[in-house]
Amino acid sequence: MQTKIHHDSAALVAAIAATLAAYSREGRPVHIALSGGSTPKALYQALAAAPWRDKITWQNLHFWWGDERCVPPADPESNYGEAARYLLDHVPVPAENIHRMRGEDDANSERARYAADLAAHLPDGRFDWTILGIGEDGHTASLFPGATDYTTSATVDVASHPTSGQTRLTLTAPLIARSKHISYLAVGAGKAAILRAIAEGGDYPAARIRAENGNTEYHLDRLAADQLP
Ligand code: 6PG
Repeated sequence: MQTKIHHDSAALVAAIAATLAAYSREGRPVHIALSGGSTPKALYQALAAAPWRDKITWQNLHFWWGDERCVPPADPESNYGEAARYLLDHVPVPAENIHRMRGEDDANSERARYAADLAAHLPDGRFDWTILGIGEDGHTASLFPGATDYTTSATVDVASHPTSGQTRLTLTAPLIARSKHISYLAVGAGKAAILRAIAEGGDYPAARIRAENGNTEYHLDRLAADQLP
């Protein structure tokens, strides 16, 4: 478990922003899957402002999502909506480079549409970089413990949140594992217990789903890392 412990959330955000800037300057289209939840908000805000906004070659970046809540973009729950409000509405990413899951549409039809979009536009069927969050129960994307198919040939699935019952769209575990690079982000004391459980070999989606090429790291702030052995 490759772990990078950052002094605080701001330092973690700066490290991820620097990686994004480096990817953007590779002079080719780079396909990135974004996580949902609240953790990325600080990252989005940093990327949309100086100095990062002007250090990134935005036209080279394609943004996809690891999962989406089945709500319209205007809904505060929308993962795409959060990215648009705090980042995409403020930086010059070409519209055709934004591959959102349409949470407002019927989940099963959107599952098929997104899978077709991935097949048509994701080179070699692999993300260059997938950024993921970690739930306190060890889920990632909308792949929940006891409800994750680690061998499916599908690329997109419909899921439901185990407590709220909210319908979700999610990339599948095998698709995520084909990413060339995976970064898990976790900040705050609320994640300390699950991160210790993962470090101790617990069987969770956020532990099992790693890049097949080994290029996976967990970015934590000191609070989230507090219980690591
Ligand atoms: C979602 C996410 C989910 C999230 C974790 C962590 O749609 O909720 O994709 O996997 O990354 O639940 O959420 P926080 O960042 O809010 O702690």
